[in-house]
Amino acid sequence: MNKEAQKRTPFADALEEYCQQQMVPFHTPGHKLGTGAPCREQALFGTALRQDLGLMYALDDLFQPEGPLREAMELAADAYGAGRTFFSVNGTTACIEAMILAVCGPGDTVLIPREAHRSVLSGLILSGAMPAYMESRYAGREEVSLGPDPASLQAAIAAHGEAKAVLFTYPTYDGLAGRLAEMVQIAHQHGLIVLVDEAHGAHLAFHEDLPADALACGADCVAQSTHKLTGSLTQTSMLHCRKGFPYTERVAAAMALVQSTSPHYWFLASLDLARQQMALEGRALEEKALFLARQARKQLNAL
Ligand SMILES: Cc1ncc(COP(=O)(O)O)c(C=O)c1O
Repeated sequence: MNKEAQKRTPFADALEEYCQQQMVPFHTPGHKLGTGAPCREQALFGTALRQDLGLMYALDDLFQPEGPLREAMELAADAYGAGRTFFSVNGTTACIEAMILAVCGPGDTVLIPREAHRSVLSGLILSGAMPAYMESRYAGREEVSLGPDPASLQAAIAAHGEAKAVLFTYPTYDGLAGRLAEMVQIAHQHGLIVLVDEAHGAHLAFHEDLPADALACGADCVAQSTHKLTGSLTQTSMLHCRKGFPYTERVAAAMALVQSTSPHYWFLASLDLARQQMALEGRALEEKALFLARQARKQLNAL
């Protein structure tokens, strides 16, 4: 990661500069900087309505980025060690749908865990691909799923030699990170494309005491809810493709299929700012969180 370059926030800067201009808007949204908004909307959102902007070619285009948005996504790719990163204004839900659409067609088999998120099922419905299940292990005492392990992956591969891709939820909804690097290796040995729902793992790459992030484990395509574990606005996520992933252009096309053509620029700017925060301060923030978590664990265990 280029720490010096990571200080930049090109898209947030461009949005800020645009808002400081004394502009007369002949563009959407129809409330015209808030003056035409319903009274209760004005009372609720106040001066924020002046910055309610989206779909301004002056500021770049999410689906054909050439200016500050392109640079913002390149900086995100650098921060996360991806070959290419896409911003999502429709959460990890859109990222998961897009990665399945990009690699699967009707009738293709995808290996998935039993506890896959509903967006995985949406991706299967949209693409026409078929699920085959990897069995998960369960922690007896805590009664939570630990996700599939290498043995359950091997069993699913043996039963479904026709499978084209495998999708893991990593970490699980309960925050448990399984043996992903080992499973990625097994999957690749069998020619499977590895997709990862890392909705709860946008923070993993920034501290060595946390489990390795999915890209570091060798995954091909990784969907992350930036809004869940780091500082961007609700509804914002990133989709990362590893360097050299041959389906990257199809991923770009699929991301345009599943998102609005009027993305809110706050969402995109908040992804830019959250990336900068994690790149520059992520380790220190996580060090503090880990300290507090260890302390809480110690005190709870002493009860
Ligand atoms: C495991 C998992 N995957 C995917 C998603 C979808 O993420 P988003 O809410 O960012 O669309 C969620 C949301 O809770 C989730 O828990």
